[in-house]
Amino acid sequence: MLTNFEQIANCFAHPTPACLTQPDILTAYAGAFLIAVFLAAPFGWKMTVRDGRGSLRTFRKLAVAALDIVLPCAVVIVAFHYVRPDALAGVERVPAWRILWHATAYALAIGGLVGGVAAGFGLGRLGARLSGAASRLGRLGVVIAIDGPAASGKGTLAKRVAEHYHVPCLDTGLLYRAVARDVLRAGRDLSDTEAAIACAKSLDPATFDDPALRGASAGEAASVVARIPGVRAALLDYQRDFANSPAGAVLDGRDIGTVVCPDAPVKIYVTATAEERARRRHGELEKRGENVRFEDVLDDIQRRDARDTGREVAPLWPAKDAFQLDTTHLTIEQAFNAALDIVEKRLAGAAPPPAA
Ligand code: DC
Repeated sequence: MLTNFEQIANCFAHPTPACLTQPDILTAYAGAFLIAVFLAAPFGWKMTVRDGRGSLRTFRKLAVAALDIVLPCAVVIVAFHYVRPDALAGVERVPAWRILWHATAYALAIGGLVGGVAAGFGLGRLGARLSGAASRLGRLGVVIAIDGPAASGKGTLAKRVAEHYHVPCLDTGLLYRAVARDVLRAGRDLSDTEAAIACAKSLDPATFDDPALRGASAGEAASVVARIPGVRAALLDYQRDFANSPAGAVLDGRDIGTVVCPDAPVKIYVTATAEERARRRHGELEKRGENVRFEDVLDDIQRRDARDTGREVAPLWPAKDAFQLDTTHLTIEQAFNAALDIVEKRLAGAAPPPAA
């Protein structure tokens, strides 16, 4: 007479329909499956929320998690089978490779099921949470809006956050920089409204990697054309289309949370004192071999702050529901972790928007 455990071990090695339908065996497998779901579902939920979509990555990690649970069971059974053969007296011996093959097949099947269930739960909950924004913008992905003044570190943060969540990132400052470049190249003045609007309308995104857009003078010129309402209006569709990417997106700029994506579920307003921002910018310029005085960099930053916050259209201002992140005393790593913390809490519903 076989014990329950021996029956299960035997059935594991010989999964015939007759043995698979035995109540003890079914109960044992159902128990193992429930344990696997119980252990893996919270993990899957977290991963799915983090990704903002039921991704292959989630599925793969869950399959691995289930393998972690089922494979040790297989090892125990194999050990039982070979180290204590007397315990299975009367049961046909089978080659180890066959037992392991079955164990792996079960593990993959359970992993797939657990992954599917957890990803399904995650998507359902995430979908419900974002349904307001999703229905209005017609998408399922999450938009993360990162705004802040010049040299506050928002660009670096935006890139790191986007890489972390595997979503595209748009540095919207580049658009204004490119418009200013095109106006100057056309031999027109930066305050020439018509020329600036025409350049904004015919902007070529393929030129955004132009190194000339990175310099301090391009930023200064950008803040001049950025005051022109027609320029801002012409650039709006491009930014919103980018934000509508099905996977979600990170956009950084001055008016993302207030004008471009007012429905973004996560908004972060990055600040730092003007002196600290000037110190960072000065360091960057020196590294690039540009010899500039700290006082001039500080002047430039204060002038741009005044222009960006004082303009009539879409001034630089934190959205009411934005989380403020002061990076004055933070390293890049600390600022990145703080930003992730904000995103995670916001997506998990643990942190309501500040003024909501
Ligand atoms: O982020 P940046 O330094 O590359 O931006 C250059 C200028 O472009 C900035 O001084 C103001 C303008 N800008 C804007 O008005 N709105 C945005 N969303 C991004 C930049």
